[in-house]
Amino acid sequence: MVLKLKGKVAIITGGSRGIGFETAKIFSKNGASVVITSSNRQQLENAANQLTNTIPISADITKEEEVKMVVEETVKKFGKLDILVNNAGIFPKIKQLHEISELEWNKVLDVNLNGPFRFAKFSIPYLQKTSGTIINVSSDAGLKAYEGFNADAYSASKAALVILTKCWALEYAKDKIRVNCVCPGVVDTEMTKPFLKTEKDRKFMDNDHPIGRIGQPDEIAKSVLFLTSEDSSWTTGAILAVDGGQSTK
Ligand SMILES: NC(=O)c1ccc[n+]([C@@H]2O[C@H](COP(=O)([O-])OP(=O)(O)OC[C@H]3O[C@@H](n4cnc5c(N)ncnc54)[C@H](O)[C@@H]3O)[C@@H](O)[C@H]2O)c1
Repeated sequence: MVLKLKGKVAIITGGSRGIGFETAKIFSKNGASVVITSSNRQQLENAANQLTNTIPISADITKEEEVKMVVEETVKKFGKLDILVNNAGIFPKIKQLHEISELEWNKVLDVNLNGPFRFAKFSIPYLQKTSGTIINVSSDAGLKAYEGFNADAYSASKAALVILTKCWALEYAKDKIRVNCVCPGVVDTEMTKPFLKTEKDRKFMDNDHPIGRIGQPDEIAKSVLFLTSEDSSWTTGAILAVDGGQSTK
């Protein structure tokens, strides 16, 4: 087996479960040393125990000092940083715009948008040294509006990640830092559990994707691996929908 990330050092935010956990799994299998981070310490430690070459550093992505600490601890431990996967995110209660409190709005933006900003900001000086790479995990909801979706703060945060991917790609191309973005459709994780409670819910979600089913977290992880490995060496500023065709509709 060719190890696509041999010798690379990666930080994966939201690595305690779901898409982040599967990404850590595929990264470590491909030879990377991985730091997974999340605000849920217990879940994070359990996750790291199931993986090889992976250490947990718990931190709240909304706290600048904690984010800085994760990046510095990673470099202290492994000597460098090659890959940042901005994956941590939250999904708000479904409400129409006029029902959302400012607190709810700001909370979503603070995690989903300001979090990636904080991690990128502290990682860039190290990525400049390694000609490293950043992946932003956005969403189909950042590409278009969906009837009845009613999660405006989420959509706004994810659309912002799409344009930031292009901004950062341009800004740091001179340092050979590649910045790309994946936009998943509905993926079978804890985040989507509330929407997949019954057979009927699941059938609806499956049928909502042209390919006839929702996605699995490892299907997103594989696209993140592609975008961080040499297989995508000439790709930067790309926005990759990994969504069973949902955003084509
Ligand atoms: N599951 C889907 O259908 C789907 C679809 C499109 C995009 N996404 C995006 O993919 C990413 C991962 O989603 P998932 O389904 O694996 O979610 P998940 O809820 O299973 O995991 C989210 C992760 O983020 C971490 N996190 C949340 N708040 C945090 C905070 N304040 N500080 C640090 N860590 C925090 C959690 O601890 C967890 O590790 C998210 O950005 C999500 O928006 C998911």
